[in-house]
Amino acid sequence: MRNKLVAANWKMNGDFSALAAWVAVMKESVPEEGGAQVVFIPPYPYLRAAVDALCRTQIGVGAQDVSAHVSGAFTGEVSAGMLLECGCKYVLVGHSERRSMWSESDEIVAAKFEAATKVGLIPILCVGECLEERELGLTEKVVVGQLNGVLDRVGPTIFGAGVVAYEPIWAIGTGLTATPQQAQEVHGVIRSRLAACDDGLSEKTQILYGGSVKAGNATELFSMPDIDGGLVGGASLDAGEFAKIANAA
Ligand code: G3H
Repeated sequence: MRNKLVAANWKMNGDFSALAAWVAVMKESVPEEGGAQVVFIPPYPYLRAAVDALCRTQIGVGAQDVSAHVSGAFTGEVSAGMLLECGCKYVLVGHSERRSMWSESDEIVAAKFEAATKVGLIPILCVGECLEERELGLTEKVVVGQLNGVLDRVGPTIFGAGVVAYEPIWAIGTGLTATPQQAQEVHGVIRSRLAACDDGLSEKTQILYGGSVKAGNATELFSMPDIDGGLVGGASLDAGEFAKIANAA
């Protein structure tokens, strides 16, 4: 039985006062034990404050990106070791916004995934198709291709240290959520691909859904057999709404 995981990706939003208010609501609203694993993913400058504010809770902290490099002359980059030292437990890799706006290839995403696991961070690998690909019937090909882009490079043992998030690009920030059936279908494809590699890997890997998750659709999405929680963007900025989503898992 896999535990549920719900992550709040603030993207490039928020400030210190919003963080303090968010943490206060979450401390009141999320059970200390027995609920889903909750992960808070604010922008880099707020990570340490988030770790300190959440230190006596079960809420983990994650970063939105990580360098594939260990150290050196890479201006603007942040290494996995630095994130770990800062108190992070998780890191997103291959978010569609990074793949499209920063041209991150499967090769780069795989290198970031591996860099994260090397220091003990848990990478959350994002995969998902755009609307045109869905309309052309290419969803499975695109999603399995992105999955293979990491799995084939790092191998099942390293891959097993991570989490997968299926995020159809057409549903991100658009208000157009995949139906629970549409999401389940792709989650099933992802799990089958993992099973083809290793049954244990398939059974233990958490697969999250992301794309306009809200309090109003979370319960139904999270009740699907292969949906192990959510990666929440816009709705995570409102702590009350996000607490309802976390408690639905
Ligand atoms: O990382 C989160 C996803 O991109 C989903 O964003 O909930 O605003 O659609 P969204």
